[in-house]
Amino acid sequence: MKIVSIVGARPQFIKCAPVSRELRKEHDEILVHTGQHYDHGMSEVFFEELGIPKPDYNLGIGSGTHGHQTGAMLGAIEDVLEEEEPDVVLVYGDTNSTLAGALAAAKLHIPVAHVEAGLRSFDRRMPEEVNRVLTDHCSDLLFCPTETAVANLAAEGITEGVFLVGDVMLDAMEYNRAIAEERSRILEDVGARPGEYLVVTVHRPSNTDSRENMTAILGALGEAGMPAVFPVHPRTRRYLGEYGLLAGMPENVRVTEPLGYLDMIRLMAHAAKILTDSGGVQKEAYMLGVPCITLRENTEWVETVEAGWNVLVGAERGEIFRAIWSFAPEGEQRPCFGDGTASSKVAQILSEYY
Ligand code: UD1
Ligand code: UDP
Repeated sequence: MKIVSIVGARPQFIKCAPVSRELRKEHDEILVHTGQHYDHGMSEVFFEELGIPKPDYNLGIGSGTHGHQTGAMLGAIEDVLEEEEPDVVLVYGDTNSTLAGALAAAKLHIPVAHVEAGLRSFDRRMPEEVNRVLTDHCSDLLFCPTETAVANLAAEGITEGVFLVGDVMLDAMEYNRAIAEERSRILEDVGARPGEYLVVTVHRPSNTDSRENMTAILGALGEAGMPAVFPVHPRTRRYLGEYGLLAGMPENVRVTEPLGYLDMIRLMAHAAKILTDSGGVQKEAYMLGVPCITLRENTEWVETVEAGWNVLVGAERGEIFRAIWSFAPEGEQRPCFGDGTASSKVAQILSEYY
């Protein structure tokens, strides 16, 4: 079977690594990189570290407004699909690359398989929510990471072709956890002592595009009473520069470039707490057993909140400050992201289906 897999943004490289490894045992995979992310630290580093095959096509689309970026991808992906004539197109997650891939395939009557289907924040102001809903509604096979995702699809009338496989990010984590411990020197590089620092990531437009939110987040971090390591996404760096906040960073906040996956995993694994608005980082905090403070009003990963290991604080300075000082989850964590075999299930279901 010939599969065209479409990736373009950082979390998609991580998700595709374990799936691609499984697919290539039996199938012919053509990997398409839309070029949505293009800096070395946002793209190539993941191919190198995770052993992802070199993309067969790099469409070089780059940055742009939603319409321009998604539109440019749509046309370029259509050309690839006409050339390759695959049996199925595989898309991941909820970025503009996901939607463009799904839409291009659906219009050419090529079956679409969506990894990480069924997630909902119920917040249509998030660009990802629009991408998820539309992608799910033009997908033929929907690979869900959680039971909640299956229920979300059922509530929208999607019950055919839905499979609960678990989360491919858990597969990636399990494969790389020991490797990260062995190879990464990030704690030494940033001078962090295990259990005595915070990790922070922020890149959602709801935070980055608001001077008030970024000021509140950095204000609370400045009063954290311990070091905070902050690998800054390029989008966030741009806005922090505009707001003049990079220059006035609190002393205990250690800003770094975006990290590679192995450094990120090791850094998170030994953190006291993680503060983030990232979807992937919320899940990884849970997988690593590190308390997560989510800088959003809602989340798609409700299981982590219900289990008591994630708390939603938005971008209110007092709430963030209180969570940093007092959020202390306890007790067992229910495994809610599957058993680390999601990727092989995806490959197996694709083989059976076609
Ligand atoms: C995108 C996804 C988001 C995902 C995130 C993962 C959409 C709508 N958003 O958000 O769901 O969580 O990726 O990180 O698809 N930039 C660079 N270098 C790069 C990439 C981006 O400088 O390699 C800068 C550009 O100024 C660009 C901005 O970051 O305009 C935003 O990039 P873009 O890919 O549009 O969205 P993200 O915020 O990265
Ligand atoms: N990540 C990384 N380096 C960083 C920040 C994040 O490797 O500097 C990884 C993180 O561990 C997770 C993924 O990128 O695996 C999450 O991607 P991101 O936060 O960009 O997007 P989201 O998950 O919110 O879509």
